[in-house]
Amino acid sequence: MEGTIGAVQLVGVHHVALAVEDLDAAVATYRTLFDAEIELEERNEEQGVDAVYLRVGDGRVELVSPLEEDTPVGRFLAKRGEGMHHVAFEVDDVDGAVGELASRGAQMIDDEPRPGLAGKRVAFVHPESLSGVLAEIVGA
Ligand code: CO
Repeated sequence: MEGTIGAVQLVGVHHVALAVEDLDAAVATYRTLFDAEIELEERNEEQGVDAVYLRVGDGRVELVSPLEEDTPVGRFLAKRGEGMHHVAFEVDDVDGAVGELASRGAQMIDDEPRPGLAGKRVAFVHPESLSGVLAEIVGA
């Protein structure tokens, strides 16, 4: 089942991301409770996070913790505490998706894609455009 954003193919939900204070502890909890498998562990200096992709059944959860307090995720934790941080949608053409979403009135945080995890290019959509939840658009 696939959708589209104009000419852009929308593959589906790529992951749901949770902001956590203690990455190792959160990973251990997911492994204990769900037998989750670690798919990827990566530091993204530009976004100021350590991140882990976990496979949970057919789905994927991203756990992120900040490298410093003065980073977007650090400020998020200080303000809102641990919890849901963003939902990520996979598309076949991230550049096309950014342009199409902007033309449809979405408030884009990134006017152009930037480096994400696993060598993918990503762009973020402001929470004000999506019922209070940050969205990440992930290229194929
Ligand atoms: Co993400």
